[in-house]
Amino acid sequence: MTVHEFKDSKLSKRLKWAKHGTFLAVGTGQWGKTVTMNALAAEAPFRGRNVVLINYSKDFVKKGYPSNYRAEKWPGKIADLYKIIKPGEDFIILDDAIFMASSRDTQTKENKEIQKFMTILSHNDLFAGISIQNTSLLDFSMMQSQDVHVLHKFMDPVALQFERPSMKLKQTVANAMLVHYWKRYPDVNAKSWTWCSSKPEMVQFHIPWWWQSTMSKAFRGVIPK
Ligand SMILES: Nc1ncnc2c1ncn2[C@@H]1O[C@H](COP(=O)(O)OP(=O)(O)OP(=O)(O)O)[C@@H](O)[C@H]1O
Ligand SMILES: [Mg+2]
Repeated sequence: MTVHEFKDSKLSKRLKWAKHGTFLAVGTGQWGKTVTMNALAAEAPFRGRNVVLINYSKDFVKKGYPSNYRAEKWPGKIADLYKIIKPGEDFIILDDAIFMASSRDTQTKENKEIQKFMTILSHNDLFAGISIQNTSLLDFSMMQSQDVHVLHKFMDPVALQFERPSMKLKQTVANAMLVHYWKRYPDVNAKSWTWCSSKPEMVQFHIPWWWQSTMSKAFRGVIPK
């Protein structure tokens, strides 16, 4: 029993009346970013919302996800966005956002449209969860327009050297705190700990009961477009 449940967190209090916001889950592959975003989406501030897994295969999401989940393909034109996203109703997950907002693709039409959409997320009362293994891989416009709550999972020390300067110290602290908690709570699954640098605090996210290991590999054999 620990006192780090989301419902007791500063982040949860901060979100109690929030109608929009962005969560950035960052850390090395398989350390729990996707699980954390999905666990977060089930928490009280988002109750009643539908969860939209962008660019996941529709058939994939029909197998084993809760009934409030759906897969949508990011549209070719921003004007078509409201065909797939419902203002005030959705929690959007941009998992492995490098496929949509890579720092290397900053001038592409798709990337520019996502940048614009991020600026009107608040107008549409939407929450977005974004996962990326290192923020240097992500177009920084994804972090510029809304309240951003950074959820750190462990980052490999080699990858950490290549973090954006603004994130390096935060992730270094996150790694140190995570190691500290693993030692302090050896019986707790190490991947459940999440350092939220925007508060700062440690929060535990439990793996959803319906989670299957295949859900951690949604892009197995698939290159998202
Ligand atoms: N909170 C948790 N409690 C228990 N196990 C977890 C937890 N989070 C993750 N895991 C385990 O780790 C696996 C990988 O987690 P996840 O898919 O979230 O990683 P990821 O950081 O998104 O990886 P990638 O960058 O490769 O997509 C899960 O399938 C699960 O087995
Ligand atoms: Mg993932």
